[in-house]
Amino acid sequence: MTILKMGISKNDSRAIYKQVADQLSVQIEEGLLKPNEKLPTHRALADKLQVTVGTITRAYAEAERRGLVEARVGSGTYVVDKKKVYWEFQHSTAEQIKICNFGYNMPPSVGQSDKVKKAMQVLSESSIPLNEFLAYQKPEGIESHRKIVAQWLQDHGRKIDPDRLLFTSGVQHGIQMVFDAFTDVGDTILTEKLTYPGLFSLSRRKKLNLRGVEMDEEGIIPKSLDAACQHYQPRFLYVIPTLQNPTTSTMSALRRQEIISICEKYNVLIIEDDVNGLLPDNLPEPLVNLDPERVLHLGSFSKYFAPGLRVGYIQSPHALHSRLKMTLKDHSWMLSPLLSGLICELICSKNLDWILDKIRHEVAQRAQIALNILQRCVLKYQHGGFHIWLSLPDTWRLSDFIHAAEQRGVVVKSAENFTLPAGTVTPAIRVSIGCPSNRKQMMQGLTILKELLKLNTPCDFAL
Ligand SMILES: Cc1ncc(COP(=O)(O)O)c(C=O)c1O
Repeated sequence: MTILKMGISKNDSRAIYKQVADQLSVQIEEGLLKPNEKLPTHRALADKLQVTVGTITRAYAEAERRGLVEARVGSGTYVVDKKKVYWEFQHSTAEQIKICNFGYNMPPSVGQSDKVKKAMQVLSESSIPLNEFLAYQKPEGIESHRKIVAQWLQDHGRKIDPDRLLFTSGVQHGIQMVFDAFTDVGDTILTEKLTYPGLFSLSRRKKLNLRGVEMDEEGIIPKSLDAACQHYQPRFLYVIPTLQNPTTSTMSALRRQEIISICEKYNVLIIEDDVNGLLPDNLPEPLVNLDPERVLHLGSFSKYFAPGLRVGYIQSPHALHSRLKMTLKDHSWMLSPLLSGLICELICSKNLDWILDKIRHEVAQRAQIALNILQRCVLKYQHGGFHIWLSLPDTWRLSDFIHAAEQRGVVVKSAENFTLPAGTVTPAIRVSIGCPSNRKQMMQGLTILKELLKLNTPCDFAL
């Protein structure tokens, strides 16, 4: 550990903590302090500079805010390794400057990487030769993998047949397969009025005609769906029955039945996006259980484990299965057997269920804290969900709010992202509480949002 060469000047107009932070910055820049080098304790540096410990705490916090150093729990403060940061964050440069990212709808970290490490070790030492995983397989993948995943889904209340299951690279890819296999330019797809943005880019590529259906607290309103089916004669209805993105709405058993009946009446196929289906307890049955010959059921392990694995699945009605399989072959031949093998190992070792429980627990804790901080705000949240749908007061313009939050290092998603191309934008934001690295960061971010919401006019937000 270096005891830094530093000095404080009383004649300097900058606050003392800023002088310290600036000097840290210079020494890092000049290479006097190396990546991963441990800084003196707050007390040691305070004694050396003859300032209070609080001043050094503030200086280190300022340096951390600038991305120069990082506090490691129980260990001390270290110079950031920029190379490491580059690899961690190369897909989002904005991440490097933010206090809190609420942008991605993803599960919190609860030990997934350790379980993946273990699973990879088991796979590499398994008696099944790895060569099998490195060879071309049939598009539907290894039969034992499909059986394991189908059984796991059945154990979690989904009527899934291993012979009709296909692995995908996530739900997003599953939707793309369906569109590629079964739609033509100009076909109409009905969906909730606000919905998952991935749908927009996919339908744009295929020149599909997306039409939004009115929603209430339970999602799509049956009467509006009936009218839209009559009017547009759609090819598909795409729907997120559980913890809808972004509105959080979840359909009751009755609503699910009503949606199925209307689609039956107009002979419309349903794309059921069940990506959040296992997050809440005691839910009504998924649509696929009610009408397996009408529903294309899509899910993934993005929310139950981690999105980076890119393992998803799709089950289609019998009549559509072989065409869908050929589409998978056209796209990528098959999902890498290494990935389906990894998921199967996580399932068989019970580590997937263990992580899912941990995720549910962590999200419940975070939700409680978040709702407490945001009390008296107008918002929607459903048990088990990773996100809050937060309405803005009419003192705020949506784009101003997003900008003000970003300026303060907080990233949220604007309602605009979820609005169909011709739709009216609701003044609301999606706040994903699974995304921040830890609860402390989440609380900091929410406090900033809360403070912003309280401002009377956007002009007050100047930093
Ligand atoms: C409703 C919905 N569907 C699909 C996805 C994407 O899932 P995947 O990672 O499996 O592609 C998301 C991601 O947030 C989502 O919210």
